[in-house]
Amino acid sequence: MKSWLYQVFIQRTTNECYRGSLGYVPRGSHVLDVGIGNGLMLSTFGPLIQSKQLKITGIDINAAYLKHCAELIRKLQLEDHVEVRRASAQDYVPPTPGCFDYVLFCMSFMLLPDQPRVLLRVRDWLKPGGQIVFVQALFRQKSRLVDLIKPKLKYLTTVDFGQPTYEEDFFALLRNHRLSVREDRVLKNEWFHSQCRLVVASFQEAPVAISRPA
Ligand SMILES: C[S@@+](CC[C@H](N)C(=O)[O-])C[C@H]1O[C@@H](n2cnc3c(N)ncnc32)[C@H](O)[C@@H]1O
Repeated sequence: MKSWLYQVFIQRTTNECYRGSLGYVPRGSHVLDVGIGNGLMLSTFGPLIQSKQLKITGIDINAAYLKHCAELIRKLQLEDHVEVRRASAQDYVPPTPGCFDYVLFCMSFMLLPDQPRVLLRVRDWLKPGGQIVFVQALFRQKSRLVDLIKPKLKYLTTVDFGQPTYEEDFFALLRNHRLSVREDRVLKNEWFHSQCRLVVASFQEAPVAISRPA
């Protein structure tokens, strides 16, 4: 039953989310996928990843998901394009500072225990002008029912969806971190007036200190 629910609801949504995000990033990009999960999307998007010559580094805290993901990488011969590491978003240190064109949070940002801390760290993971791609359900109206139900979905589907993310709070968080929204696209309308949205943001340049002659 759970596997059926997973396939009907989760896999279809996962595919829509990755179709949006992998379609957005240009050919040759180096992408950090934070919370890559079990890598099921690779079965669908392996050919796209190869044809766009993408390099994807996936991190996750779940060892079982990563094992499954590593097996798929081998089976689909994607070793030149995808690698995985066990790390949390709070502690991850990239091999070289500023090495990613894109940092992707595909249905994972809402699970982070300290989102502001992660956003502060992401700035150093990105190349200058790099972008953050968020794919997640955004709720437009506050609802106590949604607050109650969403964290419990993990018991039904085996996947933790965390707390609901409200549109207003999410965009306030981006503004507080000097992140400008470059793209905001609805991928799918969902339950309780929520929308699965692809939101792309980049850091505003720090103001340049101008030295004036005395
Ligand atoms: C809902 S799943 C999404 C998986 C995949 N991105 C997708 O869309 O199919 C969320 C993933 O984020 C991972 N995750 C949760 N907290 C994390 C953290 N602090 N750092 C890295 N990954 C995390 C979970 O283990 C899980 O694999």
